[in-house]
Amino acid sequence: MEGQLKIERREVLKEKPDFSRLGFGQYFTDHMLIIDYKEGKGWHDARIVPYAPITLDPAAMVFHYGQTVFEGLKAFKTTDNRVLLFRPEKNFARLNRSNDRLTIPQIDEEQVLEALKALISLEKDWIPTEPGTSLYIRPFIIATEPCLGVRASHEYKLMVILSPVGAYYAEGLEPVHINVESKYVRAVRGGTGAAKTAGNYASSIKAQVEAKESGYSQVLWLDGIEQRYIEEVGSMNVFFKIDGQVLTPELNGSILDGVTRDSIITLLKEWGIPVVERKLSIEELHEAYQNGTFEEAFGTGTAAVISPIGELNWLNHKMIINDGKIGELSQKLYDTITGIQTGKLADPFHWVV
Ligand code: COI
Repeated sequence: MEGQLKIERREVLKEKPDFSRLGFGQYFTDHMLIIDYKEGKGWHDARIVPYAPITLDPAAMVFHYGQTVFEGLKAFKTTDNRVLLFRPEKNFARLNRSNDRLTIPQIDEEQVLEALKALISLEKDWIPTEPGTSLYIRPFIIATEPCLGVRASHEYKLMVILSPVGAYYAEGLEPVHINVESKYVRAVRGGTGAAKTAGNYASSIKAQVEAKESGYSQVLWLDGIEQRYIEEVGSMNVFFKIDGQVLTPELNGSILDGVTRDSIITLLKEWGIPVVERKLSIEELHEAYQNGTFEEAFGTGTAAVISPIGELNWLNHKMIINDGKIGELSQKLYDTITGIQTGKLADPFHWVV
């Protein structure tokens, strides 16, 4: 990235919201980071500026063909006022993998992380400390060249905005009811399922709306070929505890390589709990339910950390998991990860920065 990071401070700071009633992603801080890209010039003009609407040409390619990627990570403030980021290098590495899939130019991961740290230190007062809250960090890149041809853009904007957040789901750690999706699919082999790109999320909303109409919070996604093998739950990775063993679908190119997913696998191995990444069919899950070995199920992601599943509905076969209550392992994983994130627990894996 060419040149120094410039900082333009806001003259009048915004009024902060009530940090005890934040919801998710509704408030934004005083400043944002912008870095431009132009073919021939590379990434340039990194700047922190007051948070404000931006102007784009109506022909900007992102509006037409969705050439865009994003990330999500969190910052926390410790009781002695240190600011911690959770495994940020993993998010910027994944951003570059998503860039590769969407033919967006690679970023310098370290330089963008340094610029992010400068932004967060300017916005320290926006980091909430109430239990379950954090400062959610949303880096994203959009194709900005005005052109209606279907090809890679020659111009981009990388931006980072920050949002103080509470629980992702209104239910919090309350187990959610999930419908196993049998009509729509989220991703296909060779598609963009492993990339964090807008289209994956846009095309998932219809299934979510229909699930809500039938009384479910979200859907469990099956694979795009046989519609048998489990992939993700809503916008999260998914884990099942069956007969003492923890199972999660293996990364197959259509599943997102989640940072929380990876952290959970590491913790389970450390605790000596058997954890297996493999193909897992909905029939196998139902069989485990019928023979009484299906112990727990939960989604994992940066936004919610852990989202316990209390009920799964598969073509009107209802599976009530752990009496609809949060499982012991789900609770322990949530407490451990949030404990490490907030500096309350030791960090044996050097995850916090
Ligand atoms: C996550 O962090 O779990 C997500 O992917 C949800 C996000 C798109 C809000």
